[in-house]
Order: sequence, then structure tokens, then C-alpha cells
Amino acid sequence: MKIISMHCRALALVLLWACAHAASAGPRERILINSGWRFTMGDPPGTSDALRYDVRPAVRASEDGKAADAVPQAAQQMQAGQAPVLKPWILPSGNAFVRDRARRHRRPAQEPRLDVPYLSPAYDDSAWTRVDLPHDWAIAGPFLEKGPYGGVGRLPSWGIGWYRKRLDIPASDAGRSIFLDVDGAMSYAAVWLNGRLVGGWPYGYNSWRLDLTPYIVPGGENTLAIRLDNPPESSRWYPGGGIYRNVWLTKTAAVHVAHWGTHVRTPQVGKALAQVALEVALDNDSAASAVVEVATSIFVLDERGGRVGGAVASITAESLRLAAGGSAVVTGTATVANPRLWGPPPTQRPHRYVAVTSVRRGGVEIDSYETRFGIRQVRMDPDQGMLINGERITLKGVNNHHDLGALGAAFHVRAAERQLEMLAEMGANALRMSHNPPAPELLELTDRMGIVVIDEVFDVWERKKTALDTHLIFPDWHEQDLRAMVRRDRNHPSIVIWSIGNEVGEQYTGEEGAAIGRKLAAIVREEDSARPTMTAMNYARAHMPLPSTVDLVSVNYQGAGIRSNPGRFPEFRARFPDKMIFSSESASALSSRGEYQFPVTGALTAPVRPDAGGDWTTHQVSAYELYASDFGTSADRAWAAQDQYPYVAGEFVWSGWDYLGEPTPFYDARSSYSGIIDLAGFRKDRFYLYQARWRPDLPLAHILPHWTWPGREGKFTPVHVFTSGDEAELFINGKSQGRKKRAEYEYRLRWDLVKYEPGEVRVVAYRQGRQWATSSVRTTGDATGLALAPDRSRIAADGADLSFVTLRVTDKHGNTVPMAKNIVKFSIEGPGEIVATDNGDPTSFVPFPSPERPALNGLCLAIVRSKPGRKGTITVRAESPALQGANVTLQAH
Ligand code: GAL
Repeated sequence: MKIISMHCRALALVLLWACAHAASAGPRERILINSGWRFTMGDPPGTSDALRYDVRPAVRASEDGKAADAVPQAAQQMQAGQAPVLKPWILPSGNAFVRDRARRHRRPAQEPRLDVPYLSPAYDDSAWTRVDLPHDWAIAGPFLEKGPYGGVGRLPSWGIGWYRKRLDIPASDAGRSIFLDVDGAMSYAAVWLNGRLVGGWPYGYNSWRLDLTPYIVPGGENTLAIRLDNPPESSRWYPGGGIYRNVWLTKTAAVHVAHWGTHVRTPQVGKALAQVALEVALDNDSAASAVVEVATSIFVLDERGGRVGGAVASITAESLRLAAGGSAVVTGTATVANPRLWGPPPTQRPHRYVAVTSVRRGGVEIDSYETRFGIRQVRMDPDQGMLINGERITLKGVNNHHDLGALGAAFHVRAAERQLEMLAEMGANALRMSHNPPAPELLELTDRMGIVVIDEVFDVWERKKTALDTHLIFPDWHEQDLRAMVRRDRNHPSIVIWSIGNEVGEQYTGEEGAAIGRKLAAIVREEDSARPTMTAMNYARAHMPLPSTVDLVSVNYQGAGIRSNPGRFPEFRARFPDKMIFSSESASALSSRGEYQFPVTGALTAPVRPDAGGDWTTHQVSAYELYASDFGTSADRAWAAQDQYPYVAGEFVWSGWDYLGEPTPFYDARSSYSGIIDLAGFRKDRFYLYQARWRPDLPLAHILPHWTWPGREGKFTPVHVFTSGDEAELFINGKSQGRKKRAEYEYRLRWDLVKYEPGEVRVVAYRQGRQWATSSVRTTGDATGLALAPDRSRIAADGADLSFVTLRVTDKHGNTVPMAKNIVKFSIEGPGEIVATDNGDPTSFVPFPSPERPALNGLCLAIVRSKPGRKGTITVRAESPALQGANVTLQAH
């Protein structure tokens, strides 16, 4: 192990304070402080100006609803001048991520002059709302039915929010370093402790740390006040509002492993052995120099992330001296014999390890720090695509936004796990975090499940997409935000690509834009040289400057062609023969689950128009899965383009799940139409189209539409079949409608001239001439009852765990009535509560917490949460006028 850097850090107040508290305390503690916050919206009268982070341009007109691929514009430059702003006190919070020390920010000598009652520890906040984190202040609604708010989901996410909490800091914490770790707060956070401004972080999607040590009174009263200021017109989708991820207090000895201070790489991976290289950064926050010993042991993790057995490798202890207020990095290498590699199922398994780093001083352990990682070899090959441990893994990916539907932006592990489980069931093996870093727990899930990830930092750089989006902070914060993302996430085996931006305006600005791209890519390489960079391009062509700034060619929609433009894979291939090419966004097909509209286009893909594909009265899009946004295509056309060019490494579909906001093509609605799975988590027909392609070995034949069409007797009612077979025969009431074979570049079998008659549609699918799969749909009777089915009937009684309960409206045989829109009322008994309901309808303005809502095409969802520490039987009941009610029981254990 060797020391590769050592330097002194600014000491200032920290040291003075630390001298007074000489005793150094024990090892690291990480305490979740999510419960018992007080919350209110708005500033006290007359204080807003003094509390703002910076001056902002005036917004003259809303840009909500602009086409997703509209050209980003030049930003308006603002100068605060003499206006009071908090920026000078907030900027130093990012200093650990500014590489050039000369460019680090110095805190002004004077404290900001603020006369704001909420900051005072004595302020009585008992009238504020009690909330637990993660918290999204906007998700409960009500929806803003009128006005230009479709893009942001018609929910009131913008505004100012205050959070306050008493911290319990015992006297024995004197001498320790105490940090506030916020996994995500939307947005422009400013933090005060005991009335003093500690710092903050503007970007709402990053995680950040503040050092509370100089401000804390061990053994005394300590009051945190956090102000968020989420601007309107700052997002193209629903951002959520509030402290929407976990918040922690981290306590360490004065000498400790630095924030996100470890970096694992696996420079050599073989069958017999793997080399694990580890860098450990240490900080000495005390006034005296310190000699410490650093050693690391490596253990196997089981599937759930628990440590198994003894150490399988180690890096021997090395001692080093840390100057007072100084930092240092030590590096070491371990050899793991017969490594269990990390790789995506079904052909590989996502094995993981943990490196446990121990810091000792005078023989006593003063810090212990865990770094989870995986051993794998990833290569992006221009001809073969992505190779993981030598095997070609076609990217079968989706894009997802950060919201969790009816639960909003407030992160919830189980809700995210449910999303990933359904995507994996469909055969997806990859996820792009569009267009921002996710909650850290989501990466723990992708690591554990073996889903490969593109971690993406920005949707805009200097040029803006909406008036007050993050272009406002880009000049001051791009380096800090980008380094923070990479430093936080670089040990996750699931991450295979860093994305520095999505469809940025700098695609349009030639060399000037490319210079920014180069700068960002260089920052990434400094933090992690092991993974390639990309920037998602919907406009930049191969000959333009931007594409050459990154390691991979990742195009949005350009592969299959945008509008009438031809597909551009060959053009990029010719210009970049050494770079792997893939679609970072493909398709952008649109549909409302179960809403079939006639006539049906005969084309492979078609835009949504009033005469075909879209209903301009109901604002629903046809579920035949042939209609797409104006700049995208159906899945079918996207695949035809990919399959024509085998060097294409795969795709990330826009989008996996529906999300709040961006309801193209109907901005009067609240949520997207592009998901393969709807907002409530119900599979659209498209789910089976992808499953048939992505899981070719799963015998599958899926029929659409449903077959209950009173009034359509004798009318053309096309039947389409999604199958992993290559041929199929369709029967209507036993009469063959013909046997069809899939031609090259065809991904569905279609019988467009079928006339509706009630009864049964049946399909028999074949593969290589042998029967492969069958399925059928029947005409149902009138709705007579309800049926309930939970995704899990045993949940933890921890006040957090969830069960997602699906309601079906059924006929007397128990079949789902496919167009039923009956109003359903949920109720609950026992130790659980209904936190939200949904039906996946993008046009519904029933607030999510409502226990009452109509079904959409036979389905509705209730999300049930346990109560803390209360075990027992939970009964969920559903009623609907004139229908037989239903109930189901869950166990909280
Ligand atoms: C893309 C964009 C995405 C989303 C999508 C809409 O152009 O990158 O963020 O807006 O279109 O379908």
C-alpha cells in the first residue's frame, strides 16, 4: 500500500473547535434521521428575497408542453449585483468536488444578515405538519386541471418548503466529526444548524454531505432547519418537491475514511484469480497530526447483501501519517482466488463482494468502512457490442424517470424493486437513469439483480430547455455535480456507462458545445477511468463536433430515423468505426392500456392523429402499439433498424414505466403514454411484444385486442399476436383465419381483416414448425363483481413495507371485464393503511391518496402500507355500486 497524495486542508473554525474537544470518540455510526420532521410551505412574510440562492430570470411565458425534442435555447445571463443572495455561503459545500484548489470557494467572512424566525432554535414549529422522510410535498395534489402544467404532471411541485428537526447529539459526541448526508432534496437546499447557515446544494438529484461539526453543540439542543426552493418552469417532467430521499447523520472519529472515499477497480479478471485495486481517501479533521494503520479485508456477499464466511482476500495494514486538517489517499491490491463474477442473468449471476476497510490508531479501531463491489470485466466493442466477462450481452434496456407513480418522487425501495422485477420479467437487462442520478438504494437493487445501468448526470448544460432549469447552476456546479455522481456511484458493479448529458443544446453549437462535452468527459475520466462516457444525441450527426467528445455513440431515435429521416446507424458507424453504437432512446411508442381504437393503421409505425391512433375527446392513445411520438417510432420499426445492423449493441426504450408529466401527445393529461407498463404498474400489450423478443425461449403468444365489442359485430377488428414463435394460426370461434409466418424485420403477426363476432379468439403459435404456445381471449359478460390480488400477502410490520393490491372488475365467470370503468371504493382494517390508489389512466385527476377511483379497463390498484411495529391481519376491502364486493387479507409480520 502506498500513500499517493497528502495535503493540508483549510482549518479555520473547525480546528479551533476541535482543540476544545480533544477527546476522540469511537468508530463510525450512520443514523437514519427520517422520522419526526416538521414541515411547512412558504417563507415567513418579507424574508424570501434574503433567503434566495441567487437571482433568477423572470419567466414571461410557460414553456410547459414544448415538444420533447425542441431545440434548447441560449440562456439569459443574470448578475446578483448588490442583491442579497446566499450563493456565496452555499458554494463552499461543493469544494470537495472542485479539483483545482485555486478555484475552491471561500466562505465569506461575514455571516449572511438574516432575520428569519424559522432559523431560530427557539422558534415554535409545533403548528407545522409532522412528516417522515422521504417526503414529496406535491404528490397528494390536488391536480391542477387547467393551465400549462401537463409537462410537470399537473401537481404543485414548485414552491418553497421548510423542514425542521431537533437532533439528539449526546455530550459523548464531543471530538467526533458529524455530517449531514442528504441523499436528495428537490431543490436548492440551504441548511441551518442552531441558526447558523451551514451550506447547501442546489441540484435536486444529487446526494450531498455537509459538515455539521463546527456548528453542533454536543449534549445541547441542536436544531436543523432546511429550506428548499423548487423553481417553477425548471423541469420537462414531474420533479417532485421536498426531501424525497433518505437523510442520515454520520458520526466518525476525527480521523476517518473520507466521504465516498473508496474506489474499487478490478484491473485483472480471470477464472483463477482477480485483482482488486482499492483506493482509500482519509481525512484528518483534527488539529493534530495522526499516524494510522489502514487495512482491508474482502468478504463474499450473499444474494441479499449479507456477509458470508471469513475474509477471502485482504490488503495488509500500512501505516501513514495524516497532517493536522490533512487528507491522504492510500492504495492497495488484493488477489481474489476463483472469483465469483458479477454478471446479468439469465446466463450469469450478479455475485458481489464487500471490502471492509479498518482504520486503526494506536492499536484501536477508529473507523470501519464498507465498500460493496463486484468483480467483472466489461468491454464495449464496436463490432460485438457489450461484452461482460467475455459474453455478448445485448442491451435490452429501458429508460425510467425517478418517480414511483402514485407514490411520487419520495423514494421507496419496495416500489422501485417492484418496477425492476416487472422489467426483468419482461426480459429487460438494462436501465438508463434518465436523466439524473438515482436514489442510492436503486443502485443497490440493480447490483443485486444484475441489471446493467447507465448513470446519467444532466438533461441540460449551458443551454436551457425550460426557463429555470439547471442551466442556471451549470456554470458554477457542473464539476461538483458530475464528480459527486461518479464518486458516489463508481463502486457499483451494475453501472457500465457514465452519461454526461441528454439531448443537450450543445449538440447545436458546434465546437463551442463540444468543448463542454470534452471538459465533462475529462472530469469523468479523472474520477473513473474504467467506464466509458456517452451523451445521448437526438440531433448531433456523425460529422458534427459533439459525438467525438465521448467514448460511445448513443443515439436517441436516430437509429430508426426521426420523422422522415432515414436511420443513421451506418453514418455513425462509418465515422466512428472504433466506437460501440447503441440507442440510448428507442421507440417512444405511445398507448393507453386497454384503449383500442379503430381504424387501425396498416403501417409499421404511425404518428398519433385524430383520425387514427388518438382520441381527441378522451385523450387516450390506441393500445394497438403501433402509434408513436412524432419524433419516435413503434417498437417494430426500432427493431427493424437494429436488426439490419448487427453491430448495434442494443437499445434503451423510451420508456419502461409510465411516469408523471410529459403526457405527449395530450398535454391536458397528467402522466406519460410512453411506458411499456402503465403508471399503476399494469402491463400494456407492449409488455408482451418486448417479452417475446427479449425472452425468445419463453413460449409466448399474446393476443390483442380483448374480444368484448358489443356493437362491432361484422366490423373489421384487427387481431394482432405477439409471440416468441415464428408462425401462428388464428381461430375465431374455431374457424381458422389463416396461418401466418413472420417475415424478416417483422415482429408481430397481424390479421387485419378479421370481423368481430362474440365468442373466442384463439391462437396457436409455432416455432420451427412445432407447436410452441397457445392462448385465447373470450367475450366477457357484464360486470358482476370485484376480485383482489396482492403482489405480496406478507409484509414487514415496519411502517414502510408495501403491498400492491390489484383489483379486477369481473363477470360472473371471474373474467376481467375489459372496458369496465366502475367506481371502486377501497377500505382497510387492521394494522395497515391505503397510501395511494391508481388505475394507470394518464387523464385521471383523482388525487392519488383517494380511496375511491374508477377502474380503467377492468383494473385498479391500491397501495397498502404497514404500520410501524404493529403485527397482525390487514383486511383490504373493495366495493362498487351494484357489484359483488371483495376482500383480501395480508399479514404484517
Ligand atoms: C426524448 C427525451 C426524453 C423524453 C422523450 C419523450 O427526446 O430525451 O427525455 O422527453 O423524448 O418521449
